[in-house]
Amino acid sequence: MASVASLREHLVEELNDLVSAEQQLIEALPQMAERAADRQLRAAFKSHLAETRQHEKRVMQALKQLGEKASGKTCEAMKGLLEEGQELMDGADGGALRDAMMITAAQKVEHYEIATYGTVRTYANLLGEKGVARLLDQTLKQEKAADKKLTTIAEGAINKRAAKEWQEQTTAAEAASGMLEKGANWIGATVGGAMKAVLPSQAADKKRKAGARGRSTTRAR
Ligand SMILES: [Fe+2]
Repeated sequence: MASVASLREHLVEELNDLVSAEQQLIEALPQMAERAADRQLRAAFKSHLAETRQHEKRVMQALKQLGEKASGKTCEAMKGLLEEGQELMDGADGGALRDAMMITAAQKVEHYEIATYGTVRTYANLLGEKGVARLLDQTLKQEKAADKKLTTIAEGAINKRAAKEWQEQTTAAEAASGMLEKGANWIGATVGGAMKAVLPSQAADKKRKAGARGRSTTRAR
């Protein structure tokens, strides 16, 4: 026997999923804002945090209008997306690269929410729950706007800055390896020259010592 018997039940399940998704995001966004190097990105995360608090309230309201209560289930998809986002944030030292990586993570989150809000809004409409559909549509519009804003910020400056950082690193690495090569050549040439100078004098020294040993042996006889 299936655990979900109707489209209405499915709608309620998905709304519960969204409650958890929004709550997890409320926990994650302050850290993302704090770690953003770009001023615009930091502001975008902060303003989306305020919106996300509204989103949670709206989903709870939608459940209430349907005569349901939040089940307390965990949205595993959001949990996974945020864990991946945390790995990304921890994987970069900072600067434009980490900002770009945080936008990657945030846009995955936004697209997940857009997909879910889009479907639940449509189900609510189909089931004649116009008030619920309106609530969900308000959030859907804000999620789409947040995603668009992230694209604008990324394409406006951060992606270019991250690419420039990479080019500078590549140039610096090439220059360092060129210097190492030159240094090795110089050391090779210098040591080679010194050896040439040292070896003949060592040979002469050996010859002298051998001569001296020969003379002292003669004297002992
Ligand atoms: Fe949201």
